[in-house]
Amino acid sequence: MNCLSHRADNGTSSSDQVFSVPSFRRLLAINFPEWRQATAGCVSAMLFGAIQPSYACAMGSMISVYFLTDHKEIKQKTEVYALCFVGLALFSVFINICQHYNFASMGEHLTNRIREMMVAKMLSFEIGWFDQDENTTGVVCSRLANDTNVVSRSIAGDRMGLLINAFSAMAIACTLGLVIAWRLALVILATQPLLIFCDYGMFALLKIMSKKAIKAHEESSKLAAEAVTNIRTVTAFSCQARILHMLEKAQEGPRQESIRQSWFAGIVLGVSSSLLTLTWALDSWYGGKLIADGYLGAKALFQTLLMLISTGRCIANAGTMTSDLAAGSDAVRYVFAIQDRYSQIDPEDRKGHMTEKIIGHAELTDVDFAYPARQDVIIFKGFSLTFEAGKSTAVVGQSGSGMSTIISLIERFYSPLGGTVMIDGQDIKSYHLRCSRRHIALVSQEPPLFEGTIRQNLAYCASEDVNESEIIVASKAANAQDFVAALQDGYDTWCGDRGLQLSGGQKQRIAIVAILKNPAILLLDEATSALDSQSEKLLQGALEGVMVGRTSVVVAHRLSTIQCCDIIAVLDKGKVVEKGTHSSLMAKGPNGAYYSLFSQPPK
Ligand SMILES: Nc1ncnc2c1ncn2[C@@H]1O[C@H](COP(=O)(O)OP(=O)(O)O)[C@@H](O)[C@H]1O
Ligand SMILES: [Mg+2]
Repeated sequence: MNCLSHRADNGTSSSDQVFSVPSFRRLLAINFPEWRQATAGCVSAMLFGAIQPSYACAMGSMISVYFLTDHKEIKQKTEVYALCFVGLALFSVFINICQHYNFASMGEHLTNRIREMMVAKMLSFEIGWFDQDENTTGVVCSRLANDTNVVSRSIAGDRMGLLINAFSAMAIACTLGLVIAWRLALVILATQPLLIFCDYGMFALLKIMSKKAIKAHEESSKLAAEAVTNIRTVTAFSCQARILHMLEKAQEGPRQESIRQSWFAGIVLGVSSSLLTLTWALDSWYGGKLIADGYLGAKALFQTLLMLISTGRCIANAGTMTSDLAAGSDAVRYVFAIQDRYSQIDPEDRKGHMTEKIIGHAELTDVDFAYPARQDVIIFKGFSLTFEAGKSTAVVGQSGSGMSTIISLIERFYSPLGGTVMIDGQDIKSYHLRCSRRHIALVSQEPPLFEGTIRQNLAYCASEDVNESEIIVASKAANAQDFVAALQDGYDTWCGDRGLQLSGGQKQRIAIVAILKNPAILLLDEATSALDSQSEKLLQGALEGVMVGRTSVVVAHRLSTIQCCDIIAVLDKGKVVEKGTHSSLMAKGPNGAYYSLFSQPPK
């Protein structure tokens, strides 16, 4: 049952990228603290919307002035209208600044807030989510960098500004038009839905296409990001040319998509603008007829015509920006999909049992497991292994036998499909995850150091605030004190990008100092395998110091690391094939799995 439900969970996790309709209201709610800027922005946008019809109306009146017979009157009136235009121009500058400033400041707050929300949410997701193809480092980073920006810039600020501009322009133009010359206004307005329909069609079309293009570009940016992340491997294997070739291939799809998109956009835009010209023909013909029939004066004709048609143009222009909006609404959808997703392993589950202290007895009982990203490959079937409290247990085997998987299960990076992982006799699912992890420390082969000083890196890993003397005591225990003291800035040495300034062994020792948090269970996943024998010896000494009195799970390939462990379990293809102390396993002779593992010549 458990197994079934978990599989079902995993099933939804890959399809949970089918996002709901983006909610503009929800975005606004996130932006609520900036309501003052929002109000100022909206008022400015409304006033800016009013400028276009006012300008068109004044233009209409001014054209009619030229038909006057009294030259003095023409001069006087044109001066007044010219001043009107100057006034409108100055007002337009001022109001534009107001609108954009307020919306931009709103957008900036929104971007920051959304980014914080997304990062916080993603950090709570189970590791299985990050294993999925659509959530690799490259994709997630580019989403975090771009989507949050797109959301606030193109959706919150611009979309709201555009909508308000268009709405206010249309309302004013319609009202004035109907008051001045209702017959003509009705005919002009009757043609507007056609134009709006064209715009809508274009919006829908571009939306579908932008979705495809974004997806296609994701491929190539993922590739580029991965190449940069693994620059050392790329350089070492001199495979730049191959990567460039792959990149070129990955970009082929998006390129064709863009070309197709431009064809469509060209045709649709062309048709819609020619329709606009055709409406001019209809409106001027009908206006002329109304004048001939005596229903309308020239001034009213010019005012209504210019006002309604130019406003229509405004709305059409707003329509051409819909491709940005289409990309924006995809981004909003992604942001909310992340926001609404529940972590399958919730680190803050309130029902979890908070524990101040654990003894450290760990046990895997009858565990079935497959990675969520590769559910067809069964790693464990009915797997059981006990790690006694306060003792060190080594897990050895051929690479790929599932040793790191055991560590991931104890860390609760993944949940087993069946069976239980227990700590101190209780299912680890019953613990409050963040709380239980406080008692477990993991040192792996390449511990990542964050951008920052050594001291900051130590503090990242420690659960509580640590003081100088604690750091020094722990550093001594980890044989790190000497090399840190020898660095120019000591504990304030900056660890560059991913700690490139430190050697593997030094990073490893820093990771061990981070065991400051005094865990009951210590997980070492090939902690020493990447080191030369000198550094290994230093580290080994450090590790033996910290292992005393703790439950330790040691995954290693070197005999020197494991032979001192209390118990050794030999793993083969997800099964424990032998268990005992170093001497008892060695005593089995050439037929024993342990014996053959370590009597092989080193590879
Ligand atoms: N995140 C993952 N997603 C899918 N398969 C994985 C993942 N990590 C490891 N595997 C697979 O699980 C098997 C056991 O892996 P692991 O426990 O890491 O082996 P090792 O014993 O060398 O530490 C391997 O076949 C590996 O390919
Ligand atoms: Mg491993």
